[in-house]
Amino acid sequence: MDLRRTLERAIERYYVDDAPEISDTEYDMLLRELTDLEAAHPELVTPDSPTQRIGAPPQKGFAPHTHSRPMLSLDNAFTEEELRAFDERIRKVLGREEIEYFVELKFDGLSMALQYEDGRLILAATRGDGTTGETVTHNARTVHGIPLQLPLKVQGRLEVRGEVLMLKSVFERLNRARAERGEQVFANPRNAASGGMRQLDSRLTAQRRLSFFAYSIAEGAETVTSQSEAMANLASLGFGTRSEAQLCMGIEAVVARVAALQELRASLPFGIDGVVIKVNSFAEQAEMDFTSRFPRWAIAYKFAAEEAFSIVEAVTFQVGRTGAVTPVAELQPVQVGGVTVRRATLHNMSELTRKDVRVGDTVIIRRAGDVIPEVVGPDLSRRPTHAVPVPTPARCPECDTELIQDEGMVVLRCPNRHCPAQISAKLVHFASRLALDIESLGEKQVDRFVELGYLSDLPSIYRLPQHRAALVELDRMGESSTQRLIDAILASKTRPLDRLLFGLGIRFVGDRTARDLARRFGTLAAFRGASYEDLIGIADIGPRTAEEIASWLQDDSNQSMLDELLALGVQPEEETGPTGDLFAGQTLVFTGKLETLDRTDAETLVVRLGGNAGGSVSSKTSLVVAGPGAGSKLAKAEQLGVKVISEADFIAMLPPGLIDS
Ligand code: IVH
Repeated sequence: MDLRRTLERAIERYYVDDAPEISDTEYDMLLRELTDLEAAHPELVTPDSPTQRIGAPPQKGFAPHTHSRPMLSLDNAFTEEELRAFDERIRKVLGREEIEYFVELKFDGLSMALQYEDGRLILAATRGDGTTGETVTHNARTVHGIPLQLPLKVQGRLEVRGEVLMLKSVFERLNRARAERGEQVFANPRNAASGGMRQLDSRLTAQRRLSFFAYSIAEGAETVTSQSEAMANLASLGFGTRSEAQLCMGIEAVVARVAALQELRASLPFGIDGVVIKVNSFAEQAEMDFTSRFPRWAIAYKFAAEEAFSIVEAVTFQVGRTGAVTPVAELQPVQVGGVTVRRATLHNMSELTRKDVRVGDTVIIRRAGDVIPEVVGPDLSRRPTHAVPVPTPARCPECDTELIQDEGMVVLRCPNRHCPAQISAKLVHFASRLALDIESLGEKQVDRFVELGYLSDLPSIYRLPQHRAALVELDRMGESSTQRLIDAILASKTRPLDRLLFGLGIRFVGDRTARDLARRFGTLAAFRGASYEDLIGIADIGPRTAEEIASWLQDDSNQSMLDELLALGVQPEEETGPTGDLFAGQTLVFTGKLETLDRTDAETLVVRLGGNAGGSVSSKTSLVVAGPGAGSKLAKAEQLGVKVISEADFIAMLPPGLIDS
């Protein structure tokens, strides 16, 4: 049973290791082949066949949770014909001409069951094998779109099910940062999300910035009569939902809607792998019933994978804003999921070596939920005999400076700070939407201004208005474009502090770290004086990032660049709220239930007041704030002799006026 072994291995890799080896489409096809084979030869079916289970067993480390009712899978349709056959079956059973369907996106993430008791989130569990999943409540609390507390009117038990996923934009940022650090990049947003939900430390989950979208009420919807009503209720309770979900009367409307959603796919902020079509009325659903694996009242119409073959014409090297040199595959143009792909990043030298992509190779290109196309790998059977591994370049392709290798020899870097490619990339980053948001200053414009000598460093952006007369004369600029550019530059002077800190392009300082820094220091002046100790004291800032920021601040040329920005009128909006050094040098750990404060708010307060909010108790912990239900952390603190105080004691320590009592 080779087929079965292949599938078992694929399942293991997919669900347990978060590192799929075969594409989802391939997986679906193999599973279907096995299902058909078993249907024809029932004597081959064993209780442990991949067709008999939906996921893999729960991992050790998370408490098992037995689902209130099984988390089933969905039957698949791959063609319009199969979709029409589904409708026909339903019409036959229900004896009706036209069925009302609710057509939803099929989110490409991992399913999650959420239980609420009198409106409070009490449990979150993954699907696991469909019967038993893993309890990941602490992680679910960090996920956007999962309300922790529902409006008061919700009494008794409510179980909501849906999908946790990572937005494409978050995935790209995460992968860029990982590549920059020389770490292995995630294969796709689904794996990044799934790995995120299985962190034992939920602060790591929080860093993945996951989102939740609800798709059903498994318990507590007794008075609700349809899927559309259930979804409207979930949206009003604060669960993540999507407005693309629509009622469709009859199969023709469904087919049209499926086509429309397929068109929409590439522009959605997250990956979908199809569309789910559900009989809308719960009474009709009940009439249709379930098989052991899936409901008969719903079907998943799966989209074709966004994969295609292309040929690598060259591997070039691109210089980023920190000088990191990234290999890029230059491809024979190919259509993947509705867009033409000409190039794809190979992230870093170790990815290039691992995938062993060579010039002349036929490679698989994928756009799996992410917008940036990816080279999956070469088709070795089609490798030309003369193809050789891509040599590691010795010199910068832009400025010819000798390259250095760092991050354990994985990341190639151009050490020349005046390298024009680095300067352009820095400026583009500074002007980008999440940073100073100078709309008219895109990549092409920046390159042109660098070439013409108008831009050379960050302060030069604020000197551009002085060149107004010359700019107006430039090709494709004119009076109105120049004015728009100048207005955008002026408006950027007073953006919030965190945007400026992000825009500076300090290594390892992403938008989230920038926000932490702005919260902690409040003003640019305070940030400029930060020491390594101040920085390492911030929760979520590790030693490498702290070191990088501290040495950036110690560099005189950076400090004089900041002076210049200030002299040119840059005046970032300061963070309001408390700042201070009450907890300077101290690490506080919160455990048990907090009754007045929200846990995250309490931790933020500690950070703003100069301290560190830790996750676990050690001899380095200064203070443990314990509430009702505190368990092992409290015991550990007592064992180590760490001082333990109550939430009320903690509040009493705070500067007056911070907490309304
Ligand atoms: S309904 C009993 N709706 O797809 C029906 N599932 O292949 C349960 N999924 O395990 C599923 N988007 O994780 C439903 N709008 C949606 C969905 C959806 C994604 C996932 C879900 C399920 C898998 C089935």
